[in-house]
Amino acid sequence: MTFVVTENCIKCKFTDCVDVCPVDCFHEGPNFLVINPDECIDCTLCEPECPANAIFSEDEVPDDQTQFIALNAELAKLWPIITEVKAPVDDADDWNGKPGKIEFLQK
Ligand code: SF4
Ligand code: F3S
Repeated sequence: MTFVVTENCIKCKFTDCVDVCPVDCFHEGPNFLVINPDECIDCTLCEPECPANAIFSEDEVPDDQTQFIALNAELAKLWPIITEVKAPVDDADDWNGKPGKIEFLQK
């Protein structure tokens, strides 16, 4: 089992989640974070920290977001670990909740 970052993180990337992870399993891309499923210990701490409600337990990922399970595993291998909170981009709040953000995912 692992936790998974889903679509609403894209272009929001608030990074509150990285502050609570005890095993540093978040990896950072240009406008999205992912969780390394091989490192996540299922502690649940990150889920309530995300202002965009983008983090789900693997077995609770919404049906229209299941592609993000594989995307987290794939991109965690490519992107560097992030362990410290960063200021979000200026328009992060404007993107929170917008549908169809997958098309803006930068790899
Ligand atoms: Fe890290 Fe725990 Fe979240 Fe897994 S569930 S990503 S170990 S904070
Ligand atoms: Fe993304 Fe939420 Fe973390 S928006 S960076 S999963 S706090």
